[in-house]
Amino acid sequence: MNFLVNEQRWAPELFAGSTAQQVGDLFDGDLLAPTTRSRRRTTAPPGRNRHRPGGVSVGSSPQRSTVNMTNGRIGMSDIAEAVDLREITERPDWEAVERQLDEEGFAATGPLLSAEQCREVVEIFDDDTRYRSTVTMARHAFGEGRYRYFDDPLPELVQQLREGLYPPLAAIANRWADRLGERAFPATLPALLEECAKLGQHKPTPLVLRYGPGGYNNLHQDVYGELTFPLQFLIMLSQPDEDFTGGESVFVEQRPRQQSRPMVARPRQGEAIIFPVRHRPKQGSRGHYRVQMRHGVSAVHAGERHVLGIIFHNAR
Ligand SMILES: [Fe+2]
Repeated sequence: MNFLVNEQRWAPELFAGSTAQQVGDLFDGDLLAPTTRSRRRTTAPPGRNRHRPGGVSVGSSPQRSTVNMTNGRIGMSDIAEAVDLREITERPDWEAVERQLDEEGFAATGPLLSAEQCREVVEIFDDDTRYRSTVTMARHAFGEGRYRYFDDPLPELVQQLREGLYPPLAAIANRWADRLGERAFPATLPALLEECAKLGQHKPTPLVLRYGPGGYNNLHQDVYGELTFPLQFLIMLSQPDEDFTGGESVFVEQRPRQQSRPMVARPRQGEAIIFPVRHRPKQGSRGHYRVQMRHGVSAVHAGERHVLGIIFHNAR
């Protein structure tokens, strides 16, 4: 029962005579994550080669920019040259992003990538040498469509986005952690990935998704192990209403003892939507409490919809 909502868990307790205070946040935990995690573990091929020669260096410094494109891959040297890490991370109004996250539960950044950069990422969807795992969603009842997890080394653009957007999001994540009494996160992505590695989470999680007509993605959470960084983002690679129709980004927020709240985002091409992986703090009358969030995609009516997904924690 992947889509069992929390109302169905706490309501019987109340009908049986418990007070709302007794029920408290007893049933606020995530139901989907363990199922998703165990299913996804089975999709990764064993024994893949994590260190492919001749690609982009994935050293721990944010300044790293070694590019050696000699293996005939599609188009990525152009993308690498076009990316300026600092310029991209300075584009979003981070105060506005945090405000949107606190008020709405997700935030739009405005365009981060050009149409040309988006097109080049779409082109490498079919480059099989780039990926550690490919998931046909219908086989796992995740939806209809296909997504592919990049292998190490990540394409330069993906690496730069992941590394560059991590620090401002870690600052937000740490303010959230403070409000919820949860653990804090390191200031840089390499430090986070080091922690992931210590817990056996070695596999990179950035992915690219393709939905055709009728394609959709069930509501879910991207949890891949013990360590979960609380924010993630997607970047719309296609041009809405030109490349595809339908296919909206859907978010559903579950607040304790309330009905779930649906939200829809329609990012422009090149724009990022930032959202919680599992939950976020919300101000209540007696301090902050957790609201759970799941995300998915409504059905694509026509055309092809491509999205880049960046999750910061690695997978087991
Ligand atoms: Fe997801």
